[in-house]
Amino acid sequence: MIELRDIHYTRLGTQDLDAAEKFSTEIVGLQKVERTADRLYLKSDSRHHTLCYFLGDPSEQIIAYELKDWSRLGAAYEQLRAAGVPCGLGTSAEAADRHVEAFVWFLDPTGNRIELVARPHEAGRRYIPSRDAGILGFGHVGICSTDPVRDQAFWLTHFNAMISDWIGPCPLLRVNPRHHQMALFAAQRKGIQHINHQVAEIDDVMRSWYFLNEKNIKITFGPGRHPTSGGNFLYFEGPDGVIFEYSNSDRKIIEDLSTYRPRQFPLDPSSFCMWGSKPDIAEFNG
Ligand SMILES: [Fe+2]
Repeated sequence: MIELRDIHYTRLGTQDLDAAEKFSTEIVGLQKVERTADRLYLKSDSRHHTLCYFLGDPSEQIIAYELKDWSRLGAAYEQLRAAGVPCGLGTSAEAADRHVEAFVWFLDPTGNRIELVARPHEAGRRYIPSRDAGILGFGHVGICSTDPVRDQAFWLTHFNAMISDWIGPCPLLRVNPRHHQMALFAAQRKGIQHINHQVAEIDDVMRSWYFLNEKNIKITFGPGRHPTSGGNFLYFEGPDGVIFEYSNSDRKIIEDLSTYRPRQFPLDPSSFCMWGSKPDIAEFNG
């Protein structure tokens, strides 16, 4: 069993780093940490970065988890390799590029590239928002799955992932008490389905709704409230068609695991929004 502490970063390929910088700072509110000829590092909390754009193919998207115990990195690699999962050890240059001490990569059954990082770097300085969106930090990702039942089994078999709820066949998974760090959504493709940043309160969600409308940003869902996590949410579209989300999902599952029962919601818009907002996001419509 590979024990994960939390989701840590995403990496997105793009052909237009300027557009990515403008959107992620002026619109989302992330802080630029560093920009090079082929990298853009952005932070949203106390970590060195939680999002890195790299010059490359926009279909190249990576999600990273931090290991609970850094010393188990080699064991994690061996477990995945023995199970026939495509995987490899990151080089020291690749680790430096990610601002971690070491990492292992693997492909989930859909083909998504996931990285397991050991001793990721903290920032010595606080997160200073580029705009006041109320961001508290990187929250979770939606990830595309060509077979959510198969991919759920993969995560439950190899990792300490637990099911918090289902929407149709799609599980919302957690590796710590927060309601979910990853949700698997049925799709015909691999890749990141959305990137969530947690905000402090519903006022932040609504302020951003007005702000994004003024800036003519495409709103794809919300404002609304998720019946699963309880969070108020707003989804909008960024560069290369990547969907970003703000939410204040503060629900935590801390009860005895033997008594917690994941809830089954039907694959219906009402399972994504208890207020009646309708998603303009293919994977949320089944
Ligand atoms: Fe979300």
